[in-house]
This record gives sequence, C-alpha cells and structure tokens, in this order.
Amino acid sequence: MATYPFGSGRPDPASFPNRELGEAAMRVLPEMGNQLALYPGSLGYQPLRQLMADRLLKREGMAPAVDEIALSNGSMQGVTLMAQMFIEKTGDGVIMEEFSYSGTIGAYKKEGAELIGIPVDEHGMRMDALADELKTRADKGNLPKFIYVLATFQNPTGSVMPLERRKELLKIAGQYELPVVEDHCYADTVYEDYYVPSLYTLPSDVPVVHIESLSKILGPGVRLGCFFTKQPLLGQILSLRRDGGTSTLAAAVVHEYFRENLWTHVDKINSIVKEKRDLMFELLGQYPEVFEWFSRPKGGLFIWIKLPDATDRVKCEQIAEDRGVDYATGAAFHVHGSDVPYLRLAFGYASLQEIQKGIPILADCVREAQN
Ligand SMILES: Cc1ncc(COP(=O)(O)O)c(C=O)c1O
Repeated sequence: MATYPFGSGRPDPASFPNRELGEAAMRVLPEMGNQLALYPGSLGYQPLRQLMADRLLKREGMAPAVDEIALSNGSMQGVTLMAQMFIEKTGDGVIMEEFSYSGTIGAYKKEGAELIGIPVDEHGMRMDALADELKTRADKGNLPKFIYVLATFQNPTGSVMPLERRKELLKIAGQYELPVVEDHCYADTVYEDYYVPSLYTLPSDVPVVHIESLSKILGPGVRLGCFFTKQPLLGQILSLRRDGGTSTLAAAVVHEYFRENLWTHVDKINSIVKEKRDLMFELLGQYPEVFEWFSRPKGGLFIWIKLPDATDRVKCEQIAEDRGVDYATGAAFHVHGSDVPYLRLAFGYASLQEIQKGIPILADCVREAQN
C-alpha cells in the first residue's frame, strides 16, 4: 500500500462499522434457520431488497417494486451483466462518456464491445455530440446496442448531469431505441446540497437499467449492490446469472445493521469524507501552476486534475511511485486508453494527515516532471 493512497475510490476505512456488523451478525444469524442452507435465488435476500427500495424512496421519491430489484455482488456484477445482455457479437457498440470508470472500460472491452466515447463537459456527456454520433451511425446502419452513463458524480470527472440534459438523453435514446444503463454507484456519497432525479425515475420510451452499490457508503469488501429495471428485461438479465445469487449471509448482516442505521451511517461517513475533500481542495489550491481541476464535485470520491501540458506523464508517475504517492492516471479512464494530460485523485480512503503531507509531495512530482 502506498504511503499516500489517492489511487482508488474506497471509503474511509476508520469509519467501517466492524463492531456494529459483528453485533448485527450475532443478532441475526441464529434467527436465520435453514436459509443459509439454500441458494439465495436470482433476486436475493428480500429484507435487503426492501431496504434498497426504502433507500430509493427516501432519495428519489419513488422506488421500484421489491421484486424488480436484484441484489448483486457489488455494482460491478450489474455493469458486466449489461454487456452480456446487450452485446451480441464482437464489435457491437456501447456509448459511454469519453472518460469513464476504468473497471467498466475493461469489462466491456473483454466482452468484445466497441467503446464509443462521447465528449464530456462539466455537466457530463454532451448531448450535441451524442446526437451527432448516433445520426452518423444510423446513416451507416451501425447503431450501438446501449448507452452506459454515469450521470451522477461521474467517475472520474465528478460532474452531475442537470435535469434538462437527462431528459434530452432519454429523448435521444428513445429516438434510436437504445436501452440506457445508469451506473448510480455514488448516489449517497454527497457533501453539499444536490439533487437531480435519477434517469430511472424520469419518463422514458426506452428501458433504463439502474445500478447501485453499497461499496461507497460501506465498503467494497462487503460486495453488495443491486440493479433494477422493468420486466421483461429484468428476467432476461437475471437468466444470464450463473453465480447462484448474492450471499444471503452478507445481505442479512448488512440489512440488520442498516435497518436502523442506514442514514445515520451515511451522514457520518459523508461528514468525514467531506472534511477530506475540503482539505484536498485547499491544498491543491496552493499550487495553481500545477493543478487545475475539472470541477469541484459536490459528491463522489474523486477530483479530476488537468496537468500542465509539458508534464512528462510517465516520469511523473515514476517519481510519485518512488515517493509513495499513488494516483490514477488519466489514460486509465479514457475509453481508448489515450494518454491524456489528466490524473484522478481519490479523497475517501487516505487520512487527513496523509492528504496534508501527500499533496505537497505530489505537487513536487508534477513540477519535477516538466519537460
Ligand atoms: C462508476 C463505478 N461503477 C462501478 C464500480 C464498482 O463498484 P462495486 O462493484 O464495488 O460496487 C465502481 C468502483 O469504483 C465505479 O466507480
């Protein structure tokens, strides 16, 4: 582990509720009878699905029926299932933001998809560029199979797509009959007033698959997330599952803890991570000649930094590694792996002390890597 771990998007480790989850396990497991002797089924442990529905109802003002929600092994399983669902043959296209989550990029490439990157601005995927791309492809009879979008606290840029643009996205998707996959992994990592309804809750002529995670508000080691959409698509996606379902053991323990603590837990970790985000911005601001940020995210876990053009990116990474600073390179988030002059800093996992010491060291690394 690097001394200054700004690389991957993990939550604050000190606030992981070890003891509380242990106590929850002691309360719930003896009551579970033979449930653990059974396979969970393709939807998974009902009480946690109900809790996911309640969580959505509170946040979005509406929720799908509990039997339209499927638990998953993190949100990544949902992300991967979508490629299996919609990509029929090598070269089938998927529309994504030009900069997107590296895990999705890797998974969709592995499924043989052609990744079609749409330029982004501080409000997310650009609709003029999307409309142009689809028109060109429609004229050639080469339409993609679906749209994958990070509308809320985009990874890596941190942007939030405004309501009007969300409506436009659904309109364009409808025009070409393209399903939309909304990865809503950062929905509850919120530090400032923000609310834009998720795509799933907006009227649409095309199916929207909505994916959520507990990794960012609890921990990725728990491996719990969920996805939902309407039938018959949901059934078709579930028929692709070959994993026997999502762990009832993990789901039951987390449900028992969250049953009464979900929002107090979320508020607590958000206030801890907000302090880290604020400190990171304060420090970055002390090096204006080195760091230029794309946006100041109100949520999520990342800051997307533009490096000076003269930065030798390979050299910078090498110096940073030697000095114990871990960050994610811009290329990891470019749909074609292009060497773009960006880096992504994650502020959730590192401690305040590590941020305090690490950002000035990173500034030195960038300075020393100028051509
Ligand atoms: C946008 C996005 N989707 C999905 C994931 C995968 O998360 P998990 O499978 O742990 O829920 C991540 C993790 O960083 C992510 O940033």
